[in-house]
Amino acid sequence: MNIIDIINKTKKSTELTDKEIRWLVENYTDGEIPDYQMSAWLMSVCINGLTERETVSLTEAMRDSGDILDLSGIGSVTADKHSTGGVGDKTSLIIGPTAAACGIAVPKMSGRGLGHTGGTIDKLESISGYRTELPFYEFAEIVRKTGFSIISQSGNLCPADKKIYSLRNATGTVDSIPLICASIMSKKLALNADGILLDVKCGSGAFMKTRSDAEKLAVLMEKVGKSAGKKCRAVVTDMDSPLGNNIGNALEVREAVEILQGKYKGRLYDLCMKLTANMLELAGKGTFEECLGFAENAVSSGKALEVLRETIRLHSGDCRICDDVSLLPQPRYSYEVRAVHDMKILGINSEEIGMTSLILGAGRLTKDDIIDMSAGIVMNCAVGDCISADDTIMTLYSSTCSDFSEAVFRAVNSLKFCSI
Ligand code: URA
Repeated sequence: MNIIDIINKTKKSTELTDKEIRWLVENYTDGEIPDYQMSAWLMSVCINGLTERETVSLTEAMRDSGDILDLSGIGSVTADKHSTGGVGDKTSLIIGPTAAACGIAVPKMSGRGLGHTGGTIDKLESISGYRTELPFYEFAEIVRKTGFSIISQSGNLCPADKKIYSLRNATGTVDSIPLICASIMSKKLALNADGILLDVKCGSGAFMKTRSDAEKLAVLMEKVGKSAGKKCRAVVTDMDSPLGNNIGNALEVREAVEILQGKYKGRLYDLCMKLTANMLELAGKGTFEECLGFAENAVSSGKALEVLRETIRLHSGDCRICDDVSLLPQPRYSYEVRAVHDMKILGINSEEIGMTSLILGAGRLTKDDIIDMSAGIVMNCAVGDCISADDTIMTLYSSTCSDFSEAVFRAVNSLKFCSI
């Protein structure tokens, strides 16, 4: 076997064998195949795609490049949830505790944010003391006790994906449906929960900009999960406008806590209840309608907030934030973006809002950038709302950026509106 033949086969859309794909992944991970040859193969995949069988093989070879976790000691049915990323997406902080309060175990490994999308690990690190890097035995022990834990992707899980993903970032080969599928599913299969719920985001703030691409990715990921013997379901959800009102790390933790306190309903709450119900149904807890009722009850009874509080405590975080969100990092500067005339909001571009939040200090342009945990945006309006002249459309926050001019420009640019 040699790499030139493999590149040529994919370049001519000739299907690779399982053995060839495994050889490619193993030899690239071990450093036998150089980056420039792997880049050529990745670019061929971006242009020509892979067959479903090739995608299954690539995913399984990447999964097998490192450890596969043994979650059997947790003692209850386990379910994992993955969102393909978006702006203001704090659903894991709501769904995890809610599903756990309904009797299933949710062990999750998450990543950090890069570019306009946020990362759950950064959000959790805005809670004073919260440890995101734990040894596996401690992670499993927390899940056994509370039903829920989130730590950062660590240990020797999918080293092939780590290497391939950073090469894709540097070579313009991220936006390929089979490569995204293999990258996400290899990590999900290595985590090894019994059930996997995939929330495929679609719209301006997502990897998949169109419904048809999002559906293709959803169908492919579900097939790959099932072919590896998992209970797996993928749903497509909207990421055309930001999810919830708050964007930014501490601000998003605050919103998640307030949802679990029962303070707010609306689009974010509804989505979280729907996704939790899907997870519970996958885990065999009942029909979708019954599971929706269990999820709503877990929030209204305060049980889901109790799970979050105990999980934060066991991670050495300041769990008092579950009662007093003002203990989260507070910004030094703020700026209110106001309406200059009466208007109706027709659209809020998620990617632009994500970039505004990044400029304020809430995100990273390169993976070593340091985040301002207090920075971000609170939206005062949603798509379809009418606003009067001088009303606040959104408030921008930062502790590191006192000159708001660039952020205000991007924020205004994110809005589509008409005069009324
Ligand atoms: N998230 C991943 O983990 N991998 C991708 O390729 C895209 C999003």
